[in-house]
Amino acid sequence: MPAIAPPSNGDTIRPDISLANWTHTMKRSVLRQMLAVVSQPGILSFAGGLPAAELFPTAEYAEALQRVLADDNRSLQYGPPFRPLKRHIVNLMRQRGVSCSEEQIFITTGAQQALNVLANLFLNHRGSVIIEELVYSGIQQAIASKQPRILTVPTDLDAGIDVEAVEAHLLRGERPAFLYAISEAHNPLGVSLSLSRQQHLIRLAQQYGVPIVEDDPYGFLRYEVEAALPMRGLDSDWIFYVGSFSKILAPALRLGWMVVPEALLPKLTVIKEAYDLESSALIQRSVSAYLDAGYLPAHLQRLREAYGARRDAMLAAIKNYFPTGTRWTRPSGGMFIWVELPGQVNTAELLWTAVDEYQVAFIPGIAFCASAGTTETASSSNADHCMRLNFSNCTPEMIEEGIGRLGQLLHRTT
Ligand SMILES: Cc1ncc(COP(=O)(O)O)c(C=O)c1O
Repeated sequence: MPAIAPPSNGDTIRPDISLANWTHTMKRSVLRQMLAVVSQPGILSFAGGLPAAELFPTAEYAEALQRVLADDNRSLQYGPPFRPLKRHIVNLMRQRGVSCSEEQIFITTGAQQALNVLANLFLNHRGSVIIEELVYSGIQQAIASKQPRILTVPTDLDAGIDVEAVEAHLLRGERPAFLYAISEAHNPLGVSLSLSRQQHLIRLAQQYGVPIVEDDPYGFLRYEVEAALPMRGLDSDWIFYVGSFSKILAPALRLGWMVVPEALLPKLTVIKEAYDLESSALIQRSVSAYLDAGYLPAHLQRLREAYGARRDAMLAAIKNYFPTGTRWTRPSGGMFIWVELPGQVNTAELLWTAVDEYQVAFIPGIAFCASAGTTETASSSNADHCMRLNFSNCTPEMIEEGIGRLGQLLHRTT
């Protein structure tokens, strides 16, 4: 009989345990690593994409949760997607200019799960996808296990995805499994996709048969009267819409949705079951009860006012304190401003001085670059001198203070 090996100390994996091939090329999320380092007490952080905790509707949600727990023990049971919640989502979608039916709503455990499920639906092993050069890192994680060929396109900081670059890929004969886009208040760039670019993208999707995964977690957080609407309002065949309660209620609820053709729901259900069987009945019912009580419009109004003021404070502070030659986006909504610094400054290096000496943090642009090595770039982007700043999680006073400190550092180094 072979000797029983002593228990390992947990720090290493036995060499004879083989992991799936794709895990060997897996990169640790640069973003997560940085967030872990900069999230120390005493640091004024513009790094995370966090909503303001002091604005969570805690009392109203607690009341809705209490009511659901007291009235309905199915809230703690396995159960099918909660129909009344779908009805509320249809109403929310109407506010985003999208007309759809309850049958087209698919409830997910956050938008991130929706991206994973859609990646599984569309993408073959080593298939290709089109994403922007600077992109929400969660989409890369959602597709990583398929080891895809990533075709990238640049983004114009005023009008969104470079649609000509998308077309160039398609004209070269590429037929990606899907294109990933954020129509309004892009993460990390803060830009919204202009209507003419939306229409052009949809024409390309129709002509070349390429589905578009439209991620819209920030669409309800807009601070301008004239805001972009999602592409799903213009096309219901090729646009696969993803929404989320994370930024408008709370991320810990882990509740999101898709708007998709009804005929796909059986397949999506099977894919989702592999992840978590179903989204929590308790969360679905309590969010639905919160919406029944009519709390959301006033809450959204509060968020828009507070975040709008924070955005304005940050835009003004960047203008006042950052060096001449700095460029930045003016987001119509969402949580982020993208900053391009003049000169040769490297923001990944600068971060450590910012944290150590100035107690202020941001995310360097490099953290959002579509992963090098697996990409076929339309034109290479240089994010070394860029940073993403979050404005939702600090008060205007903290923003003034923190951007002032960053300005001092930048004047020292640029
Ligand atoms: C663009 C984008 N998509 C998806 C997500 C994930 O959202 P959720 O919390 O609903 O999973 C985020 C979270 O920050 C995001 O910024």
